[in-house]
Amino acid sequence: MRAFRNIVILTGAGISAESGLRTFRAEDGLWEDHPVEEVATPEGFARDPALVQRFYDERRAQIRAASPNPAHEALGRLDREFAGQLLIVTQNIDDLHERGGARRVLHMHGEGLSAWCRACDARHRWEGTLGDGPACPACGEAAMRPDIVWFGEMPYEMDRIFDALASADLFVSIGTSGAVYPAAGFVQQASANGARTLELNLEESLGSRNFDETRLGAASELVPAWVDEVLRD
Ligand code: APR
Repeated sequence: MRAFRNIVILTGAGISAESGLRTFRAEDGLWEDHPVEEVATPEGFARDPALVQRFYDERRAQIRAASPNPAHEALGRLDREFAGQLLIVTQNIDDLHERGGARRVLHMHGEGLSAWCRACDARHRWEGTLGDGPACPACGEAAMRPDIVWFGEMPYEMDRIFDALASADLFVSIGTSGAVYPAAGFVQQASANGARTLELNLEESLGSRNFDETRLGAASELVPAWVDEVLRD
């Protein structure tokens, strides 16, 4: 494998599936029994905040009960040992990348263990519930919502992501269906900038044709093997 100097990795729900966190679009996916428009839009939150808070309170408890799997740990090792530039852009709201040892992580869709106060704009590490309307530790208002990017809202740190894609020589996508933009368009951007592109996924995704190479299988097997290759060269 060619020695790469600047790697951008995009991860999705598939990398956390083997940690027991449900994906979104599988037969048993989250969106099967939670209509997106009810629990993942600002309009849904305005209509029924209690329903939305309950949904994310449950997900927060599931995140805390989950543990990193070998895929997260392999990316933690890559982050520690790779001397080049690296950015892990995750669509996931769980903290399993960080608990797996990765540091160069960017949560483009927000974080489950974070609360955002709509009164004073402060963000707080939050492990408990929001359904009971707790006061914001900064301003005292009971105006906190999950710090999650909902459909129709702008993902976080897009400038930083575009900069990284502009200078990457390798783009790797792990455990994502390619169903949601702007993340689903990153492969074309990286490719247009001359990067080699690699997909690691359980099954063909909507974007597989856009990759130079696709490897099919479980993340817990594919990712450690790929990290070994990168660190060997
Ligand atoms: N190993 C590797 N890939 C896996 C595994 C696994 N163990 N299990 C599932 N996958 C793959 C599936 O084949 C699928 O292509 O992970 C992908 C999960 O796709 P989605 O459920 O659509 O999740 P994701 O792509 O992360 O969704 C993107 O959509 O709903 C919004 O904001 C939400 O961030 C999310 C975004």
